[in-house]
Amino acid sequence: MFRISSYIREIAAPTPLGPRRHPPGPVVIWNLIRRCNLTCKHCYSISADKDFAGELGTDEVFTVMDDLKGFRVPVLILSGGEPLLRPDIFEIASRAKKMGFYVGLSSNGTLIDKSNIDAIAAADFDYVGVSIDGIRDTHDKFRRLDGAFDRSLAGLRLCRELGVKVGVRYTMTQDNAADLPGVLQLVEDEGIDRFYFSHLNYAGRGNKNRADDAHHILTRDAMELLFETAWDCEQRGLDKDFTTGNNDADGPFFLQWVQRRFPNRAAHIEAKLRQWGGNSSGVNVANIDNLGNVHPDTMWWHHTLGNVRERAFSEIWTDLSDPLMAGLKQSPRPVKGRCAECRHLAMCNGNTRVRAQQLTNDPWQEDPGCYLTNAEIGVADGDRLEVKPWVRLAPAA
Ligand SMILES: C[S@@+](CC[C@H](N)C(=O)[O-])C[C@H]1O[C@@H](n2cnc3c(N)ncnc32)[C@H](O)[C@@H]1O
Ligand code: SF4
Repeated sequence: MFRISSYIREIAAPTPLGPRRHPPGPVVIWNLIRRCNLTCKHCYSISADKDFAGELGTDEVFTVMDDLKGFRVPVLILSGGEPLLRPDIFEIASRAKKMGFYVGLSSNGTLIDKSNIDAIAAADFDYVGVSIDGIRDTHDKFRRLDGAFDRSLAGLRLCRELGVKVGVRYTMTQDNAADLPGVLQLVEDEGIDRFYFSHLNYAGRGNKNRADDAHHILTRDAMELLFETAWDCEQRGLDKDFTTGNNDADGPFFLQWVQRRFPNRAAHIEAKLRQWGGNSSGVNVANIDNLGNVHPDTMWWHHTLGNVRERAFSEIWTDLSDPLMAGLKQSPRPVKGRCAECRHLAMCNGNTRVRAQQLTNDPWQEDPGCYLTNAEIGVADGDRLEVKPWVRLAPAA
């Protein structure tokens, strides 16, 4: 996760570097339910509107929560599927809040309405993220439900009206890239304080449809637009947060933007970015799926480290006998190809290992999603791993 706005603030008002802070435990993204009323084209959890057997019950969730607290996990992001389809979602959220976790809700927003908005407000989530992947038709096509956009927007507005801290989450592919300016305008017009830009990751239906991934040139344009938008908000004194996920090349790309726009701040930003250190899957980010399986992050459902029904999360997370976990926790990571030679490796930490693994079966290969040129990363020109738009996998489930 790359917090653009933090670094934008560092341009406006630099703060001392200070010692590197290590979070006490990982942020846990918890897919409590796989069922969903939508079947989005890019969905990593391959969710659908049906029950999935063997999901953790309320008491099991509570037991795991106690272990997470003991392991000093600071943040729980309650996700799915569509978490609002879980009848005990507010019970789980309230208990988590009482235990002192920072609690986020990750929702598609279509089910937020007058019947549950009071319960959502009472649960006192620290953050509710609603996915908006384009304006009206684009969003409805992306999310494969007519009327989804209007329902999600209505949900977003209800949250805002009741003072729930709400943000927009947008995942970009070729199909919706043209709508990014419109979505940013919506964020502005609706007075939304947070915007999360998610790059496509190659997991679940997002892997089957990976040929739809945005071309690198489009991604670069999108990032420039985000940096300029975040800077504009800072200049206007608006307290907004712009964040990206699933592509840690955003850090070095931001540095290039700073070198061009604010050259006198470049050295400071570079030092801050090196301190950030890039991708933290398997280190500061963890995932528990609907069945209790633990993964290095949400995009690794095809690689299970253990199950919370059999072993405590804390035990699973610290077990380095799994070669993927051992590699993710290694510094520097044992990356190959252009990632190994990249001059920004200390800043991005080798980016997103899932994409490399999905294309080559080797999690340490170079990340095909890196949109920096060979010249920008300081490597000789040559072939590089890429997702050819004309190579399609089997149709999505
Ligand atoms: C799996 S959804 C669950 C919560 C809720 N149903 C929703 O759609 O917001 C969580 C977030 O992950 C995003 N997402 C799903 N698959 C993805 C993928 N393959 N790459 C990047 N982001 C993805 C979704 O767009 C959504 O913002
Ligand atoms: S991305 Fe969210 S809304 Fe879409 S199918 Fe997956 S879980 Fe459902």
